[in-house]
Amino acid sequence: MNILVTGGAGYIGSHTLIELYKAGHTAVVVDNLSNSNPESLRRVAELAGIEQVPFYKVDIRDREALEKVFSQHKLDACIHFAGLKAVGESVEKPWEYYENNIGGTLVLVDVMRQHGCKNIIFSSSATVYGDPAQIPITEQCPKGTCTNPYGWTKSMLEQVLTDIQHADPSWNVVLLRYFNPVGAHPSGRIGEYPNGIPNNLMPYITQVAVGKRPQLGVFGNDYPTPDGTGVRDYIHVCDLASGHVSALQAIDRCCGLAIYNLGTGQGYSVLDMVHAFERVNHVPIPYTIQPRRAGDIATCYSNPAKAEAELGWKARYGIDDMVRDSWNWQRNNPDGYPC
Ligand code: NAD
Ligand code: WQD
Repeated sequence: MNILVTGGAGYIGSHTLIELYKAGHTAVVVDNLSNSNPESLRRVAELAGIEQVPFYKVDIRDREALEKVFSQHKLDACIHFAGLKAVGESVEKPWEYYENNIGGTLVLVDVMRQHGCKNIIFSSSATVYGDPAQIPITEQCPKGTCTNPYGWTKSMLEQVLTDIQHADPSWNVVLLRYFNPVGAHPSGRIGEYPNGIPNNLMPYITQVAVGKRPQLGVFGNDYPTPDGTGVRDYIHVCDLASGHVSALQAIDRCCGLAIYNLGTGQGYSVLDMVHAFERVNHVPIPYTIQPRRAGDIATCYSNPAKAEAELGWKARYGIDDMVRDSWNWQRNNPDGYPC
């Protein structure tokens, strides 16, 4: 299939491109580069053994530019990664988050239907479960109250896409709820390099390891978890990427509307991640215990059985691979991609 990948220059998009090419698909990327560097696409081409990734520097809110891409390519489906994703920033700039993530998706979906492309895989998030009603979290678990505008954009867009599919059953919509993506391609050539101070645990750990930050702050050690620190379902980004290819194959079998958790089903605490990083990479990670971070929950991990049963997908990388590949990327690219 020929796939439109919005946000394909970003962290998860770039890894997914490699899996798409590996599976024999082709891709066209649109990205406005607001949180990425086109060097990622050059490296994807190198890793995939192709000349170049077809790329348009296009903002998905720009209807005319998107129309042009659709008129130049016959596209079978869209994997829709484009969006703003910083939780804290979304609290400061809610309008920008709703306008970019929701406004952009509404334009994208309209252009898709006008061009008869009605297959979409959407990057959702475990954040839509809020403080989950049950652990491990199945897809039947009710959606919850999000604690920030970013989370609401995901929750609302799930509803938007669900309603569109109900109104027009010729749409195929797959909502993928990612748990906590970490790691990088084992080559160390592509990975994640957040702007400014990292919000997420793993990039913070790798920046401490590489000497950019003096120590990690562990946000709370008084949660009702085995060691008191927050427990999450970390998933290697290459596993996440292959989950999209599995979903694409299912879309081909025409699934209408489907929701899948993409996680490992295994919860690790903050200190589990710190200690695994130190053990595997032989690099010390100094840390101090800080107060809890507003909006955090104690425990969040998936039951990923539905994706295995229906997509034949399951995570293959373990915690040692995650911390090894995160470090391999960071130490080989201490400042991210060159500007
Ligand atoms: P990322 O920021 O690395 O990638 C997103 C890409 O979208 C960037 O390259 C950015 O330049 C682009 N983009 C943003 N707005 C755009 C617009 N209006 N038009 C065109 N391009 C635009 O983020 P990521 O970690 O790769 O996440 C990909 C998707 O997965 C996002 O939708 C994110 O919300 C979702 N997600 C991420 C995580 C995570 O922890 N990384 C977890 C759950 C869900
Ligand atoms: C993980 C654990 C922190 C940083 C977020 C978004 C979610 C999704 C994934 C996009 C928690 C602790 C963290 C630090 C710490 N993104 N921590 N010190 O909060 O589970 O999920 O990213 O959809 O929507 O909310 O991930 O990596 O920020 O935190 O102690 O410097 O690490 O308290 O227990 P989170 P995270």
